[in-house]
This record gives sequence, C-alpha cells and structure tokens, in this order.
Amino acid sequence: MDRELLEIVFDNVDNGIYLTDGNGVTIRVNRTFEEMSGIRNEELAGKSLRQLVAEGYFTGSASLLVLERRAPATVTYSTRTNRKLLVKGKPIFGADGEIRYVVNTIWDLTVVDYNREVDSDTARDQLLVEEDVIACSAPMMQVIDLALRVAGTDSTILLTGESGVGKSLVARMIHRTSERKAGPLMHINCAAIPESLIESELFGYEPGAFTGADRKGKRGLFEMAEGGTVFLDEISELPLHLQSKLLGVIQDKAFFRVGGRQLRSVDVRLVAATNKDLARMVAEGRFREDLYYRLNVVPLYIPPLRERCEDIPPLVGYFLERFNRKYRKYKRFSAKLMAALERLPWRGNIRELENFVERAVVTSSADEVALEVLPMGGTKGGLAEGMALKGALAEFEKQILLEAESRYRTTRGVAAALGISQASAARKLKQIKENGGLLDG
Ligand SMILES: Nc1ncnc2c1ncn2[C@@H]1O[C@H](COP(=O)(O)OP(=O)(O)OP(=O)(O)O)[C@@H](O)[C@H]1O
Ligand SMILES: [Mg+2]
Repeated sequence: MDRELLEIVFDNVDNGIYLTDGNGVTIRVNRTFEEMSGIRNEELAGKSLRQLVAEGYFTGSASLLVLERRAPATVTYSTRTNRKLLVKGKPIFGADGEIRYVVNTIWDLTVVDYNREVDSDTARDQLLVEEDVIACSAPMMQVIDLALRVAGTDSTILLTGESGVGKSLVARMIHRTSERKAGPLMHINCAAIPESLIESELFGYEPGAFTGADRKGKRGLFEMAEGGTVFLDEISELPLHLQSKLLGVIQDKAFFRVGGRQLRSVDVRLVAATNKDLARMVAEGRFREDLYYRLNVVPLYIPPLRERCEDIPPLVGYFLERFNRKYRKYKRFSAKLMAALERLPWRGNIRELENFVERAVVTSSADEVALEVLPMGGTKGGLAEGMALKGALAEFEKQILLEAESRYRTTRGVAAALGISQASAARKLKQIKENGGLLDG
C-alpha cells in the first residue's frame, strides 16, 4: 500500500489511534482521536505520556501500563477536555525483545454534550465520580474484547460472575460503547425492590391500576429506557410470573402496563447480570428455561480476581491514585504489601480490593503503607486508631455476610443463619454492594 492510502486509512477508521515509541513518547494520533479527545496532534506529538499525565491532559495512560507490564492492557481515562476514553494498548516488540512501539486503539465513552461548557474543576469532579475500567490479565482483556465486539449489536447480554467482579461496570461500558449511548441506561436491581412493586417499576401502570397508585398512572423502566439500554441486575431474583412477562417483552418488543389494555412497543437493548448459577436454577425449576436461553444469547463470564492476579497491581495503583487524590494524601504501598495482596483470595473481588485500598489510605499513619494493614497481617499497629478497629470489625462482618449470602442465597436465609432480622440482613448486604463496605453504617 502506498503512503497516501495508509494515511487515508489511518485518519478514517472508526477508532482513535494513538502511537507512542518504546519510551512512551507520542509519535502521532489520528484524526478520529483528535475528534474524540478534542486535543490536536500538534499538542501531543513529541511529548511523553508521563509528562502529559502530569500536566493533566489525561488522568491515566494505557501506554505507560503496557510499557511497565510489557503486555497488552485496557484502561479507561478522562481527558482535560472532559472526555472519557477507553484505550486498548498493544506492545510491538523489536527483534531485540525491547518494546519499539505501543499501538493504542481508542473508543469514545463520552456522552456529555461536547458543546456544553463546564469549567475544568467541575469536569474533573464529575469524571472522578465515574469509575474507570482497568485490565491487564488475559481473561479480563478477553471479556472486554468480547463486550466491545457485541456492544454495537443489539443482542441481549448475560453477565455472570461472583459479587464484585465488575459486572455493573462492564454493563455500563457496553452501553457507553454502543450506538445507544446517547439514550438512557436504566439500571434496576431485582433484588432490591419488594416483589410486589417490581412489575409496576418495570412496566409502569395505568391510572387506577391498584389502590395507592398514582392517579395519572406511571411510566415503567422499559418505557423510560426507550432508545437506550435496560440493565436488569440480579435477574435471578425476578419472580417467576414476571419472568414470563419479560420473555414476552424480549420476543415481541412490546408489553402492557399493569392494569393496561394498550400494547406498548419499546426499543431497548437488554443487559442482565447475576452472581447465581442460572443453569442450576433452571434445573431446579426456579428460573424459566426459555427465558434463560433468551437471555444467554451472549454469555459474558467475568472471572474472580483471584484467577487473574495480574490485574491486582494495576488496580491497586489506580485505586491508590484515586483515593490519594480524594483524601489529599500521598500514600504508597510497600513492595512486600503489594506482593502479599496478589496472593489474597479476595472473596469480595474488586469491590473488596477497592475498599481495602481506601481504608489503607485513610487509616495508615505512615506514607508508606506496610504489611501490617492486612486484616490477618497483625492489627497491632492499627488498633491504636479507633478507625482501624472499626474498619477491621466492619471487614470481618462483611466477610461473614458475604459468605452467608453465597451459601444461603436469600436475605431470609442469611438472616436466619446469622440470627439477625431479614431487614437488617438486606440493608447490610445492600450497603456492602453499593458502598463496598459497612464503614458508614
Ligand atoms: N476492571 C476494573 N477496573 C477498575 N475498577 C473495577 C473493575 N472491575 C470492578 N471495578 C470496581 O469494583 C467495584 C465492584 O464492581 P461492580 O459493582 O461492577 O461489581 P458487580 O460484579 O456488579 O458486583 P455485584 O454482583 O455485587 O453487583 C466497583 O466500584 C467497580 O468500579
Ligand atoms: Mg453489580
């Protein structure tokens, strides 16, 4: 291919491309990248990514991670221009075994209106709230690759994996890389809503549908998601009679409101998630088989953190940076601590790791956090601080609750096993799942 043709391709592919050399110095970006990021090639070319990150152009860098790990990596980051990008970085090795180039392929996750002016502080605050995706391990890169490939289609996706592995995060990523990203993403947690309310939450109701209903009627989640994505979390908790109604929606792309006679059609994409073994629930008659097959069109299994330990160091690095920024601290983890973290089982997966890093940043007194912060690594140093004891207790309580949940599966079972009320079991588990811990309660 001649050079002119290569240039044409380079500038006209759908993805952004960002090329660096083996030292992380920017060689060139393509036009799509300029459009996605709002930053021009002239501003970037010749500058090292270390410098660009330090200057706040980007909150992170795939290239630097690739160079550090000498392996492919996928990360999201924000730009100074208030954009959110997902980057897949790939090292290109020379004959001498050194990395000569890093080729980055970029997807645009930005939904905000490009033309809306916000000051950079507001933008930074906003972007800090949104979590990033970090992945280096082969299994997680595969998950993301598949997610990106199917995001553009309208097929239904079933996300499975233990609690805290990143199902909700991947669901959001799928929506944000799909053609529907300008449309709404409606998230509903089937386990968090009382059974009697799920139907009207999902499908809305007509005026006078039941006592206590709003006189004007109400739109349900499916209607509100028109043109976008419905994310049904903890789908295993959907009552059987609603499972058939959902099946109908998937098949006919239409449904009735509660108490309604008018068939309403919807244009939504469905993403469902569960940490239960749905196939087993089908075998036990607790989940409809036909719905299972309808949902399981594209199965995406996210492996637990202990099966992809390579992700631990970059995740810790990312969380450290985030919480250091949040609490205005400068904590580092000692090499021994880092090594120990890679060997822990992390039953609560990334949520637990994230929670751990936050607690370490907040509670440790030294700037270099050492092995002693580990729950079983000797709490001696930490017990002097009330916070650390509280944290350790909360952590212990959390482990017990999660353990009980995975064994008994329902809040009723957990409550019975632990001798607490069902309401309190539900509240605590919800808190663990939403905040990653019980620290504030
Ligand atoms: N690859 C990742 N990179 C960075 N952060 C991650 C990653 N995966 C998960 N997280 C973070 O870990 C936490 C837990 O993830 P998430 O809520 O998506 O898990 P989940 O599988 O939906 O859990 P649950 O089954 O309890 O709903 C979130 O704060 C999320 O931002
Ligand atoms: Mg979730």
